[in-house]
Amino acid sequence: MTGLLQGKRLLVTGVITDRSIAFHVARTAQEQGAKLVLTGFGRLSLVERIAQRLPEPAPVVELDVTNNDHLASLADRVREHVDGLDGVLHSIGFAPPSCLGEDFLDAPWEDVATAVHVSAYSLKSLATACLPLMGSGGSIVGLDFDARIAWPAYNWMGVAKAALESTSRYLARELGPQGIRVNLVAAGPVRTMAARSIPGFAELESQWGKKAPLGWDVDDATPVARSCCALLSDWFPATTGSMVWVDGGVHALGM
Ligand SMILES: NC(=O)c1ccc[n+]([C@@H]2O[C@H](COP(=O)([O-])OP(=O)(O)OC[C@H]3O[C@@H](n4cnc5c(N)ncnc54)[C@H](O)[C@@H]3O)[C@@H](O)[C@H]2O)c1
Repeated sequence: MTGLLQGKRLLVTGVITDRSIAFHVARTAQEQGAKLVLTGFGRLSLVERIAQRLPEPAPVVELDVTNNDHLASLADRVREHVDGLDGVLHSIGFAPPSCLGEDFLDAPWEDVATAVHVSAYSLKSLATACLPLMGSGGSIVGLDFDARIAWPAYNWMGVAKAALESTSRYLARELGPQGIRVNLVAAGPVRTMAARSIPGFAELESQWGKKAPLGWDVDDATPVARSCCALLSDWFPATTGSMVWVDGGVHALGM
């Protein structure tokens, strides 16, 4: 049986531990026949070590998504491993501590700017950097946390996610004529390094499973990973500028 992503060449950002959502997307994508290149931020040797835990160890190229030199040379460095890209996963988020937790009113603009730069503007930066490698049928997928709502503790990261949602729609508009789709997966909470750094997120995690019509396991990134792979595949050919909720159904409920 051929896999959903048989022969697809994918760039996967955002692997830092084997709990990273990106790690699970990478694993699932390889199981479905994809050939991968990973990007690593900062701790390259750690990312390379984690990459060894994939079914097939994948090459890692360095990318700080706020670094213009990294972005300018990305296509050439990826081309050393694959001759083009059919899909790109954006699984990157960061906000300084002042942006998260209790005090929404106290975060200075410089910190908010960092959160928006790394977590939202970066979708545009990554897409532009990968464009020389992509053609019609390409798919860009990002990871979102539903930003229509003001969550406890999520604060300015929520504002950055709202910017990510809007950025994905404008990119869909811009890249559609080239046959490239841009979509987001709005995931429920998954216990990762990024999630642990959000004070108060544990409370949200503990409520999610009780509320979700389908139930929800914060230690299982597989449903999110599978959905990202579906969007990276040819099976959403007319979907772009969309947000697919993979949250057990919580978004559909009121109280
Ligand atoms: N864990 C959750 O509950 C959850 C829910 C919804 C959405 N998300 C989103 O999923 C994505 C991945 O997060 P995760 O939960 O797997 O956590 P994670 O900590 O495993 O991954 C975050 C990644 O962002 C990378 N990163 C940070 N700054 C960067 C920069 N300047 N350049 C390049 N990479 C950079 C880190 O290296 C790391 O690999 C994020 O966008 C996050 O907001 C997470």
